[in-house]
Formats: sequence, structure tokens, C-alpha cells
Amino acid sequence: MKDITIAIDGHSSTGKSTVAKQLAKALNYTYVDTGAMYRAVTYFAMQNNWFEDAQLQTEDLLTQLDEISISFDFNQETQKSYILLNGENVEDAIRSMAVSNKVSTVAKLPQVRSKLVEIQQEMGKNGGIVMDGRDIGSVVFPDAELKLFMTASAEARAQRRFKEIKSKQQQVTYQEVLDNVIERDQIDSTRSVSPLIKTEDAILIDNTNLSPEAQFSQILQLAQERI
Ligand code: C5P
Repeated sequence: MKDITIAIDGHSSTGKSTVAKQLAKALNYTYVDTGAMYRAVTYFAMQNNWFEDAQLQTEDLLTQLDEISISFDFNQETQKSYILLNGENVEDAIRSMAVSNKVSTVAKLPQVRSKLVEIQQEMGKNGGIVMDGRDIGSVVFPDAELKLFMTASAEARAQRRFKEIKSKQQQVTYQEVLDNVIERDQIDSTRSVSPLIKTEDAILIDNTNLSPEAQFSQILQLAQERI
């Protein structure tokens, strides 16, 4: 038995974090949601009013980047991890549509990426980790023992995300969610630094027509074969 590194990348709203959490629980590994880290930096910029309309005041953010501290904690009662931005629990605040609409702009900045990648590599340096994001298999852990690339049709993903947002009583239309999913994929896949790509050694999982149970047992088996 060894503590391997599992990298889960893919398009937005493909259920990466659900699978990653299940896998981490089953293997007793640490789960890291790197999307939450980019969302937290975005939230910090929004709190400081560094967005004028949709335009980010990049210089303001970059000069304050050292002031941002990001970490994770675990709530024993709910058995869920949550993200801390300068010591404050922002787990719920970072999931709003307002943050979703701006996060890809922040995630394009090389300085933001290198800061967060460094934290991610430190968190995973001893293995025993399941990390999900967009560049985990390509940049953060290119030597990960298991790399998955998850995708599904844009409509299937928007439908799932729409249900999830509605269940949290947030006002949103299906069309808004679909537009956001398509726009984020476009920005994430075409940015010059660490674009979202499927590396050659990543296993493609298209879950448009795959049940969560079938998907999980397939992925758990792939992990167990490598441990
Ligand atoms: O995973 P999630 O959808 O919460 O990620 C939010 C956004 O953060 C993505 O759309 C992408 O722009 C950015 N991201 C990234 N690299 C990662 C994780 C997320 O660029 N490793």
C-alpha cells in the first residue's frame, strides 16, 4: 500500500468535487478543492471593490496578493472541509453566481496561479491526496499516479448546477447557468497560462450518461489498481 496522488481535472460542473470527496473518504486521503482557492482570491478582489463592472483592477490585486492567506479546515460535526480566507470561513460566499462570473478572469493571472500552485504542491507533497481543478495533472502534479479528466455535455452540466444552486435558494435561471458554464470553459481552455487540457496520460470520464454510482465504482477501481 502506498499513498498516491490523484489528480482530477475537467470542465466546470462535471461533478469533479463530488467524486473527489467520495474517493478521499473511501481511501482516507486528504481532499483539496483548488477551484475554491481561485474563488477565494476572486471574492477577496470583490470585497475590495477591485471590479469596476466586469473589469478587474489587476494592479490592485497583484500588489495585495501577499496579503492573502488561504487555508482549509475540517468541521468534525458536518464532516466537511471548508476554506478560510485570511482566517474567515468563506465556503458559502465563494459559491455565488457573482463569484462564478468573475473567477476565470482572476484565474488567468500568472501571479495568482503561481501563488496557489505553490500552496497546492505543499499540501500534496507527501501523497495521500485527491486534488481537483483544471491544471492538477498538467502543472501541479504532473507525476500523479492517477489522472482523470472529467467532462459531460454543457447542457447536462448546466442542468445539474442549476438544480444545485436552486436548492440553496439562490435566484438564477437555467440560461444564466448554461452561459456561465460555456463561458468559463472557453476562458479556462484558451488562457495562455496553464490552460485546461487533457494530458495524454489522463483517463477520460464522460459522465453525460453515466450514473454517479457507476462512475464512482469505476474510479475507485482505477485508484485501487495503483495503490
Ligand atoms: O472548480 P470550480 O468550478 O469551482 O473552479 C472555479 C474556476 O477556478 C474555474 O472555472 C477556473 O477558472 C478556475 N480554476 C483554475 N484552476 C484550477 C481550479 C479552478 O483555473 N486548478
